[in-house]
Amino acid sequence: MRILFIGDVVGAPGRQMVQEYMPKLKKQFKPTLTVINGENAASGKGITEKIYKGFLDAGAQAITLGNHTWDNRDIFQFISQAKHMVRPANYPDGTPGKGYTYVRFNEIELAVVSLMGRTFMPALDCPFKKADEILEEVSRRTPFIFVDFHAEATSEKQAMGWYLDGRVSAVIGTHTHVQTADERILEKGTAYLSDVGMTGPYDGILGVDREAVLHKFLTTLPVRFEVAAGRTQLSAVVIDLDSKTGFAKKVSRIQINDDQPLNMME
Ligand SMILES: [Fe+2]
Ligand SMILES: [Fe+2]
Repeated sequence: MRILFIGDVVGAPGRQMVQEYMPKLKKQFKPTLTVINGENAASGKGITEKIYKGFLDAGAQAITLGNHTWDNRDIFQFISQAKHMVRPANYPDGTPGKGYTYVRFNEIELAVVSLMGRTFMPALDCPFKKADEILEEVSRRTPFIFVDFHAEATSEKQAMGWYLDGRVSAVIGTHTHVQTADERILEKGTAYLSDVGMTGPYDGILGVDREAVLHKFLTTLPVRFEVAAGRTQLSAVVIDLDSKTGFAKKVSRIQINDDQPLNMME
């Protein structure tokens, strides 16, 4: 059982990287199931139905979101029908969409859970308590549980990793758009990575045109953020799970730059 997870896809350049490299990644790594974080897929802000369906057509089985979930108003038209998409589960009760879903490959069923941190982030319900709530149901159904923890602070991410160690297959961070080099398997068998990194332009700042971001830092004035041009990257992680227990056997980062050959950290 192998999961391929591709980190925050930013705008058209990020989608282009998915189109170009998904077939190559599938060929090389043969993932059982593939998950994409698409919170920035529409011009850096949110996701549209067309993009959501495009990711599924490209070979993903589930899409996760984050703090940019509501940034493109198209979301409200399709989120309730989007069976393979999850937004952070710890939004208040009554928020459109769902926080976890199940995807299948033959006999294997994977639960995909989205949670969002609260440190330097919008104030949501407690992600730790919400995880307990979700696992109560999910653990009865499948041992294969993937958690995308969308958070800013590495401390909160590590805390979630340890909190869920031995209870889920993987806790993989998203949101910072910078891949961290701390992949490991925690003591009780949960794969952990603080942040998988982003997919899209890497000559900007977190995928955004750098002049605009610099202007904001230098003047503090409001600016319009546009997706950067230039070279692009794809950031992902491959997680091998024991086909009986659902615990991790191996976790490996992937970083592809469009001007460099495929680079996989063993
Ligand atoms: Fe993001
Ligand atoms: Fe984010």
